[in-house]
Amino acid sequence: MVILSACSSDTVRPGVPNVPVNEQISVNSLQYPMLRQDGGYAYIQGGYRGIIVVRQNASTYYAFERACPYDPDANCGVVSADQSNLFLTHSCCGSQFNFQGAVTSGPAVYGLLQYRTSLVNNILYITN
Ligand code: FES
Repeated sequence: MVILSACSSDTVRPGVPNVPVNEQISVNSLQYPMLRQDGGYAYIQGGYRGIIVVRQNASTYYAFERACPYDPDANCGVVSADQSNLFLTHSCCGSQFNFQGAVTSGPAVYGLLQYRTSLVNNILYITN
């Protein structure tokens, strides 16, 4: 019998797998209209299960892995911005993170995996 469980609390937490990350986006692209304002964000490909890019200000952007640090392989989705646009949440069992990637509500105990970013001439390079 196979039991699908998204948030079992009786197992050791697997870490988010360390996959090669090497993405670049133009932060001014029409593809990412929300990156034009502070606090805006965009979902892009890459990482283990996708990456969310958050604009802190015009010169500072963060990039977080969308796999939940509580259960990276949860089969019920990935971390997304909630309707308030103030928090990143994982709908499986409700872990919540702020836009700096820190846990604000469990069951997750670790913050979102953060990737390195560097901005050169409006191109944001995302690596690990
Ligand atoms: S796996 Fe349950 S909150 Fe992320």
